[in-house]
Amino acid sequence: MPEESRSFQRAGMTVRVFPDAGAASRAAADRIASTIRAASPGHRAILGMATGATPQKVYSHLASLHAAGGLSFRDAVTYNLDEYYPIQPLDPKSYRCYMHRHFFSLVDLPPQQGHVLDGTVPEGFVAAHCAEFERWIEADGGLDLQLLGIGRNGHIGFNEPSELTVAEALALPTRLIELHPLTREDAAREFGGVDKVIPRALTLGVRAILSARSILMLATGAHKAEAVAAALAGQMRASLPASLLQAAGERVTWLVDEAAASGVS
Ligand code: PGA
Repeated sequence: MPEESRSFQRAGMTVRVFPDAGAASRAAADRIASTIRAASPGHRAILGMATGATPQKVYSHLASLHAAGGLSFRDAVTYNLDEYYPIQPLDPKSYRCYMHRHFFSLVDLPPQQGHVLDGTVPEGFVAAHCAEFERWIEADGGLDLQLLGIGRNGHIGFNEPSELTVAEALALPTRLIELHPLTREDAAREFGGVDKVIPRALTLGVRAILSARSILMLATGAHKAEAVAAALAGQMRASLPASLLQAAGERVTWLVDEAAASGVS
């Protein structure tokens, strides 16, 4: 087990602090591995996956476990949190391509069991596609575990800060959204400039995220410290979507490194 520095509760959620990003990521991978091992023939592990810089270490750890012969994804099913829109799946900047690069091509997950929202759906069919994506998850029995990251603006998936009421924000469905300026800024390096970032995306809604039986929020690095501290303190608010995780209380575990935990009091 990775070396944990300390753990404590905040707003009903568990916060586990690790010395560095590698140890926090290994803890996330180990939780995913035990979810898979706990699945039975009649109940496959249904996993909600995340993209971005943070989970890359999680995927490389899972790929190592698989390569060492200790973990099979044959009976797992994955659903990704988000995808740019519009985008072709073979575009190297698509999250479909990211998943292929960092995970799908390295493990034995059958291709038809790895789901990513489809950035090629014609705009008139987007709402139906998003509703269907949620129905697939439900038909599979719901998410056993949702892996999340946090944006510097506190977003989860691409559920961006808004002025909605808390009740409205908690009920947000899977949908097409416009990226927040800070999210575009953070994606600029990957796209070769802020003006080249695809400004819209499809995201799993807050409601579906919060329905997962377990939620793992992985946050590493000093640049996440402010958002982490704000999400763990005070009331739930739509202006900081990660604070809405408080609604899932004991189903939520934060895995953070010392740098990301540095603002938590
Ligand atoms: P990052 O993104 O891992 O690239 O920092 C996290 C997020 O925006 O959810």
